This record gives sequence, structure tokens and C-alpha cells, in this order.
Amino acid sequence: MIDWNAYLETARGEIESAASAAALDEVRVRHLGRRSELKRALREVRDRETGMTLNAIREELEQLVAEREGALVQEERLRADETLDVTLPGKRPRRGHLHPLTQICREVEDIFLGLGYEIVDSREVETVWHNFDALNQPLTHPSRSHRDTFYVDDDTLLRTHTSTGQIRTMESRQPPIYIATLGRVYRRDTPSPRSTPNFHQVEALAVDRGITLADLKGTLMYFFRAMFGPDREVRVRTSFFPFTEPSVEFDVTCFLCAGAGCVFCKHSGWFEMGGAGVVDPAVFENVGYDPDEWSGFAWGLGLDRIAAQRHAIPDIRMFWENDLRVLEQF
Ligand code: PHE
Repeated sequence: MIDWNAYLETARGEIESAASAAALDEVRVRHLGRRSELKRALREVRDRETGMTLNAIREELEQLVAEREGALVQEERLRADETLDVTLPGKRPRRGHLHPLTQICREVEDIFLGLGYEIVDSREVETVWHNFDALNQPLTHPSRSHRDTFYVDDDTLLRTHTSTGQIRTMESRQPPIYIATLGRVYRRDTPSPRSTPNFHQVEALAVDRGITLADLKGTLMYFFRAMFGPDREVRVRTSFFPFTEPSVEFDVTCFLCAGAGCVFCKHSGWFEMGGAGVVDPAVFENVGYDPDEWSGFAWGLGLDRIAAQRHAIPDIRMFWENDLRVLEQF
């Protein structure tokens, strides 16, 4: 004979001390499962009284299991709450960054702002006047050719340089002027490691009283030291531009080979940076300034090459390929 009161008490004790869902399930199977003593006895019941007693025990045990199950779920929730540390950092969303060319533009702007210059925006679709005529460019200059420049119509083109920004600024205000203008320019060049049909330039213009070539040289030196560090050497060569007189071109020692000569610098050790000069009196006349009162300097250079120098990128076409394996490095 089984002592059903003892069965009930044993089962109650085990149910109440079950410490996990798995342990509780084991206890349930042992005391309420198909092969438990209780279920076997229930299958063999013949008299009403025993049946009522055993069913009451079954109900009570089922109730106890359900209660314990609820309690265990609640304990689990409390434990999870305790281990949730709201001061831990969240999951960081993946962020992009500025394109290396944009980074260079911002850096150049910062250098000019530090010098007290103003950054001026100008347009990319220009008139022939602003791109060539006002800059004293002769009608015979090869850059006016449709083979060198993208024309929209006879009077409109995609600017070939940022010097257009000089003219637009001088047309709209009086000196003194200290501005830099940055942006995209367009030329019908065949893509190569050193050139692409659209690229970026920065143009600087200073107009004031008594400005000389020495001011230009000093500003250039300051700019290149800020940009490339004191180790870089700068070279100035005489040159010609219709809108400056005298005109110079300036070079910087090649980043890749430090002047020894490599493919990037066409084995010269130097890297052509841009053009500059003292503003030609004819340009001042074109914008209505008195060339006897005002003097100035201007210079312009390609930013893509600066970015290439900075990052030792051997082919500026890489900037336009949008290969994240390249861009994500900078
Ligand atoms: N605009 C010239 C170029 O694109 C550069 C330059 C700017 C030269 C200002 C002199 C003065 O080649």
C-alpha cells in the first residue's frame, strides 16, 4: 500500500525546491508523468473513494507545479533585470566619413581662414567672359579650343579653372580683397595617373595697396609648410599666364620618392603644383579697378594632386573609383 499523504508531501517538497525549469520538469515527470506511481494507481482505480483521493492529489500537484513554474519565470526576469547594465555603451552605428578630396578642401579652407582670408563659392557653369576674356586670355589661346574645354554653347562653358572666382569677386566688390575659392573644374583631358577631366582647384586672390611678388612668395611658403610640413621643398619658376605679370609656377618635392625621381613625378623629383603671379593691370581694368591704386597677387593649384601627395596615392583616378578599400583608409 502506498502512503498517499507521504507521496503528496514528498512531491510538494521537491516541487517547491526545484531551482530551474529543467529541475521542475524532472520532478513533474517523476510524480505526475505517465509512469509515475500516482498515474499508474489512477489507471487501476476501481472504487469511487480512492479515485477521489488520488484525483485530489493529482490536482494539487498540478497546481503546485504551475505555481512553481510561474515563480521560476519571475525569478528569471528579476535576474535578467539585475544583469542589464544601462551604463554600458550601445551598439555603434556604422558611420561613413568625408571623401579624402573633401577632407583636403576643408583643410585648405582652414589654412586660409587662419590667414584671415574669406572662402568664396563660385559657379561651375561659366561665361566665356569670366573664364577667358576678363582674365585677359587672348582669342588665340589653345585652352579656348573646343578640343580642350567643355562648351555648353558659344558663350557658356564648364569652367577650366577657379580663376573665374577672382573675376566674380572683383566685379562685385571693392578692395581690399583676400579670398580663396575652391571647387571643381573641367578640362578635356584623357584620364591618366596625374589628370582626370574634372578635378579640384583652389584659387587665392589678394588685392590691396602695395602688394608685391614677395607677398605672393611668403604666402605660398606659409601655405605649403602648413600643408606638407617644414621638410618639403618648394621651387618657383618663371612662367606665363595672361592674367598675371610677372607669372610663376611652383613645384614641391615629390612625396613618393622625396626628390629622387619616380613614375609619379615623371622621374623629375618635383611635383608641379600650380601657377601664380602678380595680377595683370589689364585684369584690374576689366573689373573696373584703377591699376595705379591697387595691386595684388593670385595663385591656383590642383587639390587632387595635393590629396595624392598627402596619401601617397600613385594614381589620382583612384579618387573617382569609389573603391571603399581605398577610401576607407583615409
Ligand atoms: N588659373 C591657372 C591654371 O588653372 C592657375 C593660376 C591661378 C595662375 C592664378 C596664375 C594665377 O592653370
